[in-house]
Amino acid sequence: MKVSMISAIAHGRVIGTGHGGIPWHLPRDVKHFRNYTRGKFLLIGRHTFEEMQGWFSDHYPIILTRQTDYTAELGSVANTMEGAMDLAKASGAGELVVCGGAGLYHSALPYADELILTLIDAGIEGTALFPDYENAAKWETLSDEAFSADKDNNHAMRIVHLRRLHPTALGAKEVLDGETR
Ligand SMILES: NC(=O)c1ccc[n+]([C@@H]2O[C@H](COP(=O)([O-])OP(=O)(O)OC[C@H]3O[C@@H](n4cnc5c(N)ncnc54)[C@H](OP(=O)(O)O)[C@@H]3O)[C@@H](O)[C@H]2O)c1
Repeated sequence: MKVSMISAIAHGRVIGTGHGGIPWHLPRDVKHFRNYTRGKFLLIGRHTFEEMQGWFSDHYPIILTRQTDYTAELGSVANTMEGAMDLAKASGAGELVVCGGAGLYHSALPYADELILTLIDAGIEGTALFPDYENAAKWETLSDEAFSADKDNNHAMRIVHLRRLHPTALGAKEVLDGETR
C-alpha cells in the first residue's frame, strides 16, 4: 500500500493560520483535492477532521488521535500511524492519503512514498507549517503544472507530484526485518 500526502502550501511552508480555516481562495485547488482523494482511504488529524466536518462523505476517513475513547460519526479511528496504516491495508486500500493538518503531516512524513503539493505563490501569516520535506528526503518530480491567478483563484500556484527516492521508515524497517529473519 502506498502512503501519499496531499497539501496546499504557501511561502515558508505555511498551511494554515493556526486559528482555523484555510487563508486563501483557490477553487482550482479544492477541485484538485476532491478529484485526487475521491473514493480513497484518507488519514486525517483529529483537529482537521473536526474543522472540516462534511468534507469526507465520498471517502473512507481514518481519524488519528491519541485519545483511546474518541468516536467519530463517520469513518474509523486509529491511535498510531502504524495502526492507521494496518487498518487501511486490512481494508484493502491501495493508497492511504494523508490530508493533514500540521501535526499529522509531521507524524506521517517518514512513511510517505509520494507528496502531492499545491505550492501557492502567496506570503501568508500562519503558525501551522508543513514539515521540511525537501531536507527530510530526496524526491523525484513526477509532474509539475503551473497555473496563473485568475478571476476565481486569487493566487498563482503549481501542483507538483513527488516520489521518494529512498525507502520510507516503514520500507527501511521491512528491509531490516527481512535481513534479521
Ligand atoms: N493547507 C492544507 O493543505 C491543510 C490541510 C489540512 C489542515 N490544514 C491546517 O492545519 C491546521 C491544523 O493542524 P494541527 O496540527 O492543529 O491538527 P491536526 O494535524 O489536524 O491534528 C492534530 C491531532 O492529530 C492527532 N495526531 C497527530 N499525530 C498523531 C500521532 N502520531 N499519533 C496519534 N495521534 C496523532 C492528535 O490528536 P489528539 O489531540 O486528539 O490526540 C493531534 O492533536 C489548521 O490550520 C488547518 O487549517 C491545512
